[in-house]
Amino acid sequence: MGTSTKYQVIDPVNGLLDRRIFSDAGIYQEELEKVFGRAWQMIGHESLIPNPNDFFLTYMGEDPVILTRDAKGEVHAFLNMCRHRGNRIVRADDGNAKNFMCSYHGWTYSNEGKLVSVPGLQEAYYGELDVDSLGLVSVAHLDIYAGIVFATWASDAPTLKAYLGDARWYLDTQFNRRDGGMQAYGPMKWTQPVNWKAPVDNSSDNYHVAITHLGSAIVQSQALGRPRTSHEGLFKSPAKHLSVNGHGLTFRMMEANEPRRGHGVTKYNLHLFQEYQQDTLPEVERRLGSFRAQHVQLGNHSLFPNGVLGFRLALPQGPLQTEFWHFSLVDKEAPEEIKRALRTGSQGNNGAAGMFEQDDIDNWRQVSESGRSPVARRYPQDLSMGVGHASIHPDYPGMVSERYISENNQRNYYARWQEFMNAESWADIHIDPITASFEGTAGMRG
Ligand code: FES
Ligand SMILES: [Fe+2]
Repeated sequence: MGTSTKYQVIDPVNGLLDRRIFSDAGIYQEELEKVFGRAWQMIGHESLIPNPNDFFLTYMGEDPVILTRDAKGEVHAFLNMCRHRGNRIVRADDGNAKNFMCSYHGWTYSNEGKLVSVPGLQEAYYGELDVDSLGLVSVAHLDIYAGIVFATWASDAPTLKAYLGDARWYLDTQFNRRDGGMQAYGPMKWTQPVNWKAPVDNSSDNYHVAITHLGSAIVQSQALGRPRTSHEGLFKSPAKHLSVNGHGLTFRMMEANEPRRGHGVTKYNLHLFQEYQQDTLPEVERRLGSFRAQHVQLGNHSLFPNGVLGFRLALPQGPLQTEFWHFSLVDKEAPEEIKRALRTGSQGNNGAAGMFEQDDIDNWRQVSESGRSPVARRYPQDLSMGVGHASIHPDYPGMVSERYISENNQRNYYARWQEFMNAESWADIHIDPITASFEGTAGMRG
């Protein structure tokens, strides 16, 4: 087919990575087209537009996108660009509106994307403007997984179900547990002087946790009674890494009735979380089957191309600038106390003021900038940890690493990026077959 070999940036055999992909302006421009122009991307959550005529302003790569729910309840996504001269139609972050009027000359579009009003259509345009062909530019496909809205500009993209593939078997254990779905709070937004790929690859990097986050972990363990992280604990952990279609996931195998861990759980409220877990277990078992309900807990993870630790986005704004959007997602039907603990826990760790987030940003900045010097560029990044120690597992779908601490997912992420950058179309991009058995009643839509 049309695959080129222009990009040979990652060597999967020795794990060496070309640093220029973090800082080169030409590579960045090509990413906007070849990665963000064709990948499925998370753009919002159904709970952010719960009512007819709600809208939410979002991004795909650098392109502003309006996510709308029309009067009939159907969800759409359009490029936020007036077809006349290119002004942005929507300036507010979110709201409720049937129509959007461009503030330059007043062309007005419905929330279904139709051009419904043009000042001077007869007087100035002689009735000759082809109004029907000048609706808002729509994404090629939009689909929803467990309330999370995804879209792609590529008409030849595979289905979202195929794109997520076996990753969904693990994602379900966090995002698809309850009949009532999840509620998104946010986003909290801030800019970071980092390349957008650095936080994504870091999502599967548990190697850094005991060093980078040592101070934050000590504070949390003293104030909240959360367990300390140590190299010893991480290296011995039976948790695992796995990779599917460039998505990098980590998960923990749990004993029956073992408490689920997460940000927001402290020694003071652990009993509340355990009660909630017990109370909801029959529903979760019905939805996910008892194996996943009881024994699998999703850990840190990324979704290709720019999803970081769940429904959180690294939006590119240049090779060395990323706008970060932090949301927290909680079960809609959880007790208020649990929701509050999860929200504050999520922000305390990973929001703009999150202690762990701040620890991380300086690392990402230095990794991103290391490709700027011609001398530094002669020395590739070393991602060789665990080469040859990942395989198909009998119980857990995906390409699963033998050990928790591994760079298996990072190698696969950059190999996926390279595949996108070299491909002419989706025909040149492989999709792993779905092999997982999805027990229970939970489906793509919830
Ligand atoms: S640019 Fe929008 S109406 Fe002219
Ligand atoms: Fe971190």
